[in-house]
Amino acid sequence: MAIDVDEQQRYFHLTAGESSYVFQVIEEGYLAHWYWGPAIRPVGQVDRREMLIPRPFAPSVVPDHEWLSMDTLPQEFPGWGRGDYREPALRVRDSKGNRIVDLRFAGYEVMQGWPGPEGLPHLIAPSDGECQTLAVRLNDPVIRLDAILYYSVAHNLNAVIRWVRLENRGSDRVTLERALSASVDLPYGAWQFVQLTGHWGRERHVESGLLRGGVHRVESVRGTSSHQAQPFLAIAEEGVSETFGAVRAMNLVYSGNFLAIAQGDSYGGVRLGIGIHDDTFEWVLEPGEFFETPQAVLVYADHGLQQMSHVFHELYRKSLGSHGWRGRNRPIVLNSWEAMYFRVNHQDVVQLAKVAADVGIEVVVIDDGWFGDRRDDRRSLGDWVSNPEKFPRGIKGVADDLHALGLKCGLWVEPEMVSRESRLYQEHPEWCLGIPDRSLSEGRHQLVLDLSNPQVVDWMVEWLGRLIEETGIDYVKWDMNRHLSEVGSPVWPPSRQGEVYHRYVLGLYRVLEALTGRYPEVLFEGCSGGGGRFDPGMLYYTPQIWTSDNSDAIDRLAIQYGTSLLYPVETMTAHVSAVPNHQVGRVTPLSTRGWVAFSANLGYELDLRKLSRQELDEIRQQIRFYRQMRDLVQHGTFYRLASPWRDNSAGWMFVASGAQEALVIWINQWAEVSGPIRWLRLRGLDPTQDYRVVDVTQFDFGRELGIWGGDRLMGQGLAWRFDRDFQAKAWYLRTREFHEGERQ
Ligand code: DGJ
Repeated sequence: MAIDVDEQQRYFHLTAGESSYVFQVIEEGYLAHWYWGPAIRPVGQVDRREMLIPRPFAPSVVPDHEWLSMDTLPQEFPGWGRGDYREPALRVRDSKGNRIVDLRFAGYEVMQGWPGPEGLPHLIAPSDGECQTLAVRLNDPVIRLDAILYYSVAHNLNAVIRWVRLENRGSDRVTLERALSASVDLPYGAWQFVQLTGHWGRERHVESGLLRGGVHRVESVRGTSSHQAQPFLAIAEEGVSETFGAVRAMNLVYSGNFLAIAQGDSYGGVRLGIGIHDDTFEWVLEPGEFFETPQAVLVYADHGLQQMSHVFHELYRKSLGSHGWRGRNRPIVLNSWEAMYFRVNHQDVVQLAKVAADVGIEVVVIDDGWFGDRRDDRRSLGDWVSNPEKFPRGIKGVADDLHALGLKCGLWVEPEMVSRESRLYQEHPEWCLGIPDRSLSEGRHQLVLDLSNPQVVDWMVEWLGRLIEETGIDYVKWDMNRHLSEVGSPVWPPSRQGEVYHRYVLGLYRVLEALTGRYPEVLFEGCSGGGGRFDPGMLYYTPQIWTSDNSDAIDRLAIQYGTSLLYPVETMTAHVSAVPNHQVGRVTPLSTRGWVAFSANLGYELDLRKLSRQELDEIRQQIRFYRQMRDLVQHGTFYRLASPWRDNSAGWMFVASGAQEALVIWINQWAEVSGPIRWLRLRGLDPTQDYRVVDVTQFDFGRELGIWGGDRLMGQGLAWRFDRDFQAKAWYLRTREFHEGERQ
């Protein structure tokens, strides 16, 4: 059983793979958190005297129970104002202006499957395991607010999925000031945080450090999850590495403002919390109304970051995705942006597509510049009609020509935005987010459409649906190129202006839900100036995301490495681009650019017409080889072996077919004169098996190097001496038993 309940003791024991999560209803109906860690059997019970002792200055809700203080009680969903001085999960304002919320147990239910919050992306119960959900109802009898805490688990996955439904069952208004999705109190320990931070062109770098007293926050108030932060925070045993240390991680299935906190308390414990950011959030609950939070995914791993990643990867591969692309192989794309920028036109796109088809590319994506008078980024967003001079036969004409070449056709859009210089803005200036009497800030010369306005949502679904149907496109790249400011909406009364940030996200999800539901065969790629909105919420609708606007192969090592902490590689689109690189001017070998893009969802973004015959042959070879390896890369188990921050290189490998085969990729950063022979120790192999090792650096099954035991490959590794900057090396390994013809 994934969920065990001891009725008498009101004791809840969740088994999530190799982890357990335990809490109990204690005196006065409070919900006490007892345990989240390696799996334990549901026998015996925690003695609460081990967990609770009276502390000076800690007020007690019940006079005779000095030990029962909200200030020290480890809780599941802490409220506010009853003597808990730590970060609350819930804070409200009642109709009399008071902020106290005091939740007590009011019942529970165990159900099969995984329900999800309404209107929000959510994880779908995998079909291969026993999936259950526990719903615990809490109630504040004074303000008559109910909180239903949901906990979904599968018996074979170390993840607990939490979210909360808040119901106003009284006769007065209650305003939510903070409503996190999950909160957990961990006991005394030496904790280290792990997070992903960055900025445009440098997304999701791994950062880690010792957690001290006070509140450690990871957050975004930019309107999106952002380039700067990731809705993720892990707390780990000191010294955590890929293979060592207990890790407790949280990731929010949400694309807007978020807050993740780790608060070191006075007695060495830590309170974790994650949810919608309360600085930009308020929600009015009139009598009878409810609010549902996004889902938070809580992962426990006993053996370091690698295991944590494997749990996230498995969960997201199986359970994240609303439409037909979950689990399917992703195509090889050529994108026009760095090849042509705004100068796309029918003739050039078709010329480029002919070369693309010849080298084996599968989809050509026409990026920005195809509509209205879009010759630069100052105009035309909102006017989603193709430019007749650039595309005399419209997008349908170019899509037909691409289809005739055996290619699929993709198209870039940026639906959430409007340029001042556009027909749409002239007709509907009131459709922008804004605040009366304040001027509107521009970002990339554009304003943000008000997706909290249902009329704007309907308009967007209508024009995008029409575009897809009239043109016959197969792929949509959905971009979003600025963060939000002056966030207010004329369609909501003053009392509900605090809801607009979240309503914007709900509106976005409504559009994406409608389109991905209606056109399940169309593949949507997410983008926000690269990876500015790379989160599980977007991945639910756009199963792959342009990882970064920085296409330099060497910078991409760190970006892709960091992203892989949470997301499987097929969620990352990665393109081979021209040299010198357009962002950093670096010149790297074509094979290295190939191997970096090969390590994710391979694509190209350069003018193939300008390449030599030899370079085209090399690309043809890269693509041919990727097709042979696509299953292994896109569905294999991913291991990070060398870190770009520590090892002057990045190394990783993909293992599949029950450890019968593997692909190892290793890319150097800086060469050293007469440098060392370096060893890359492999992981995930079968120590009892012998592997044929083939050097595939040239994207073919070039040279068989010999047969080595899995034990030796993992104990000692593969050796190489890089003697040039930015060199790449790759090996393919397979056991003797693995079917010879399988990949060749
Ligand atoms: C930002 C994206 O990240 C780029 O790939 C490209 O689509 C441009 N926008 C187009 O304006």
